[in-house]
Amino acid sequence: MLDKSVQWRIDSGSMRFEEPGYRTTVEGILATGLATEVVGLLSAGKEADVYLTRYHGGPLAVKVYRLYRTSHRGGRPVKLDRMSWLAAYEFELLRMAWKGGARVPTPAKRVENMLAMRYLGDEDRAAPRLQDVRLDDPEPALAAIVDGVVQMAVAGVVHGDLSAFNILLYRGEPWFIDLPDGFRVDRLGAAPWRRLQQASDLLTRGLTAVNVYFRKYGLSIEVDGTVARIVERLDRRGVLK
Ligand SMILES: Nc1ncnc2c1ncn2[C@@H]1O[C@H](COP(=O)(O)OP(=O)(O)O)[C@@H](O)[C@H]1O
Ligand SMILES: [Mg+2]
Repeated sequence: MLDKSVQWRIDSGSMRFEEPGYRTTVEGILATGLATEVVGLLSAGKEADVYLTRYHGGPLAVKVYRLYRTSHRGGRPVKLDRMSWLAAYEFELLRMAWKGGARVPTPAKRVENMLAMRYLGDEDRAAPRLQDVRLDDPEPALAAIVDGVVQMAVAGVVHGDLSAFNILLYRGEPWFIDLPDGFRVDRLGAAPWRRLQQASDLLTRGLTAVNVYFRKYGLSIEVDGTVARIVERLDRRGVLK
C-alpha cells in the first residue's frame, strides 16, 4: 500500500519517475517500515538512489542500492544478495564511524538493499556536495576534512572513495557519506602489514582526490606525511617498524 500523500504525488505527477522501478522502490521503503512517507528522489547514482523520506514527520535519507540497473555492463540482474551485503556493509561502517564521533549521517536501519540514515539538509534543500560549493574560507574546511579522516580512521574506518563528491557541507562542517567501498582497520587480522598497506593506499588516494578540489584555492594537504601519521596510529602492533 502506498502512503496517501505519495499516491497523490504520483497521481498528480509531482513525483518524478526517474527509474522504471521507482514505484516498487517506494512501496518497498514504506512496506519495510524504513519510512512512513517518501518525499522524492535526492539523487540517482550509478549504483544507488537516495530518497528523501519522512519517518512520522521527521526527515530521513534512504539509500537504495539498485538491483537491476547498475553500472555493471551486460545488463544481467545483480542479485539482491550482493546489494543487500553492500547496504549492510555501508550501514556497519557508518555505525562505527558515527560511534567514534566522526561526522557521518547517523545510520538508522537497514533492510535488504535499503539503508536509512540521518538526512543532512533543511526543509528547502539538501546539504550540497563540497564539489558544488565555492568556499569563502577554505582553510578551516580543509583542516576539518583532515581531522574527519583521522577521526574515522581512529574509529576503525577508512573511506574507500573519498573526494569532494562524497563530502557534504552541512551547518558549516564537512560530513562524510558514501562508504560502501570503505575499509575496516579496527581489526587488522592475520596479515596486518597488508591491511595497513591497503589502508595507506586508500588514504593516499582519498587525500589526493581532496587536494584536486582544493587546488583552486591554492591549498593542499601534505599527503604522504598525513597518511604516515594516520597509519602509525593504526599500527598498534608496530608491524611497519
Ligand atoms: N544523508 C544524506 N542526506 C542528504 N543527502 C544525501 C545523504 N546521503 C546521500 N545524499 C545525496 O545523495 C547523493 C548520492 O549519495 P552517495 O551515498 O554518494 O551515493 P552514490 O554516489 O553511490 O550515488 C549525495 O551526493 C547527496 O547529494
Ligand atoms: Mg557518492
